[in-house]
Amino acid sequence: MIPVNEPLIGEREEDYVRECLRSGWISSSGRFIEDFEEKWAGYCGRKFGIAVSSGTAALQVALGCIGLEPGDRVILPTFTIISCALAVIYNGGVPVLADCDPRTWCLSPEGVKDAIQREVQKGHGKELKAVMPVHIYGHPVDMDSLLELADAYSLTVIEDAAEAHGAEYLTGRSGSNPSWKRCGGLGDLGVFSFYANKAITTGEGGMVVTDDAMFAEKARSLRNLCFRPEQRFLHTEAGHNFRMTNIQAAIGLAQLERIEAILEKKRAIGKAYKERLRDLPGMQLPAEEAWARSIYWMFGIVLEEITGMNAAQLAERLRDQGIDTRPFFLGMHEQPVFQSMGLFRNETYPVAERLSRQGLYLPSGLTLTESQIDEVAEAVKNALC
Ligand SMILES: Cc1ncc(COP(=O)(O)O)c(C=O)c1O
Repeated sequence: MIPVNEPLIGEREEDYVRECLRSGWISSSGRFIEDFEEKWAGYCGRKFGIAVSSGTAALQVALGCIGLEPGDRVILPTFTIISCALAVIYNGGVPVLADCDPRTWCLSPEGVKDAIQREVQKGHGKELKAVMPVHIYGHPVDMDSLLELADAYSLTVIEDAAEAHGAEYLTGRSGSNPSWKRCGGLGDLGVFSFYANKAITTGEGGMVVTDDAMFAEKARSLRNLCFRPEQRFLHTEAGHNFRMTNIQAAIGLAQLERIEAILEKKRAIGKAYKERLRDLPGMQLPAEEAWARSIYWMFGIVLEEITGMNAAQLAERLRDQGIDTRPFFLGMHEQPVFQSMGLFRNETYPVAERLSRQGLYLPSGLTLTESQIDEVAEAVKNALC
């Protein structure tokens, strides 16, 4: 079976982990934590990095930084992982959903506009506090118009760049001074996951990045049970144990040292699939907009309805040929857990619904070989004929 993903662990990772084990720095103190935080933040063009135990924890901490009051609203794409909506709920807020762009599959500025209007009409305009663009499958969200909207409605921007390590976005393209910036470096707070299938992994892990010293201090406190610096075991706020270990950071740092090679391989996989599948009718391949440098974290495809097939049917045919795939996200508004909480009832988001039905991603891991890419592309062609 060709797996969807396999992590690639190098000698440097082993050396650094051995150093942790030999030195005894195996919990959440040690040289690798601070080094990884500083270098990751720097890589993203940010001042501060706060390492945590997962991307889900990073989302929760980032939302915690902005201090939501009960009933405050946060806009997010329906087409994303459940961690995004849960982070809002666990922080006492109300998730407000928006549809995504049919080309990039990311949160669309029009969707955000609709969501804002809806909330304003319902009398919740004042409770709108934040927006959470999620860079899907390695392609950046179109941030410029979103940042303008955020500015107009005083929304904090929390970027979820879990799937877009090192992806770049051309900011200010309609002005005279456009510049490329890395995802996670565009909003007020950026969030990353380092789960084993991510471009850079620490096994499990995550990071919050920001330029704001107050957010950084709050994030550090929230990840460590809100211990007060002046008196141990006195707590005036509720926090979490979301600490990353020195061992995880050691792996992350080793990976970060060769991020350019990792991303080059990801992009090469994307290019290779595109060359092989481009002429196949009935299929949408991932876009790369002129203002974006995607990392092709996972190579997604969306089947046109004229194929008479949906993603689950294609996945089954590919599995029969020894190829593993993953379905696209199921929208938050279609999740039974949220329906049972009385959320998103009767809401519909046609773009996301179609992507969930017709989309899947192909093997895209760093260990994938050219001949495996050929095999996967052949299998897709056969499955569709
Ligand atoms: C977009 C996005 N955000 C957040 C997460 C959560 O990260 P983690 O699995 O590290 O908790 C993921 C998951 O992999 C993700 O894809």
